[in-house]
Amino acid sequence: MGLQHYFSRDEDKRAKFVFDLIAPVYGLIDKAIGKEYKKVAKIINAEIPLQNKSILDVGTGTGSWLVALHSHRPSRAVGIDFSKKMLEQAKRNHPKLEFKLIDGENLKSFPDGSFDIVTASYVLHGMKKRKRMQLLKEMKRVAGKYVLIHDFNRKTHFIIKILEFFERSDYIHFKKNFRKELESVFEETRVIGLKSGNAVFVGKYGNASTSSA
Ligand SMILES: C[S@@+](CC[C@H](N)C(=O)[O-])C[C@H]1O[C@@H](n2cnc3c(N)ncnc32)[C@H](O)[C@@H]1O
Repeated sequence: MGLQHYFSRDEDKRAKFVFDLIAPVYGLIDKAIGKEYKKVAKIINAEIPLQNKSILDVGTGTGSWLVALHSHRPSRAVGIDFSKKMLEQAKRNHPKLEFKLIDGENLKSFPDGSFDIVTASYVLHGMKKRKRMQLLKEMKRVAGKYVLIHDFNRKTHFIIKILEFFERSDYIHFKKNFRKELESVFEETRVIGLKSGNAVFVGKYGNASTSSA
């Protein structure tokens, strides 16, 4: 993929270009990211026990989020991403986990409700509203119980702001509007605020309760 893709109007081309380019760096920091993710996974697990749940991680990148969730012994854990290079790092770093090259907006290889939990970590802020809603709806279709979005919420460190600028992400609108966007798709929603200023946004159906999950 050439540099012209960075300037493309096609958001997907741009994102694939950016993530293919930075995949080696992500591969190196995968463990460091994973430490923070494990703390967040523990908070989730206290509310929504992950043991014996099946989990699909959309935009898994180098797999750090999936690994953190996997430490709570789900029945199945699958990570998908549309960047080949990110997945190469994921497979190298976590050879025992299942990763597939798939675009999250088109999960047709997975039937309705085929995973208990469908999740995405730092993926949805990267895209404009139309794509974000499309992805969220597709995640809902595949999720039997919950959709968990781990992403920006309040404070953003200035270094992250610079990175987001170069990534050309939509994080400013995401932070402002995502809660409402989530409410427009799910019967019940919840925001688990994190010390970092970020959050886990939970979308669920009326019949899924956090305690019996
Ligand atoms: C900022 S990285 C986050 C990676 C990982 N979830 C984490 O938290 O470390 C965003 C990832 O989402 C992937 N991605 C973005 N849009 C996608 C889509 N429509 N389908 C699949 N993967 C996507 C990118 O390729 C990239 O690997």
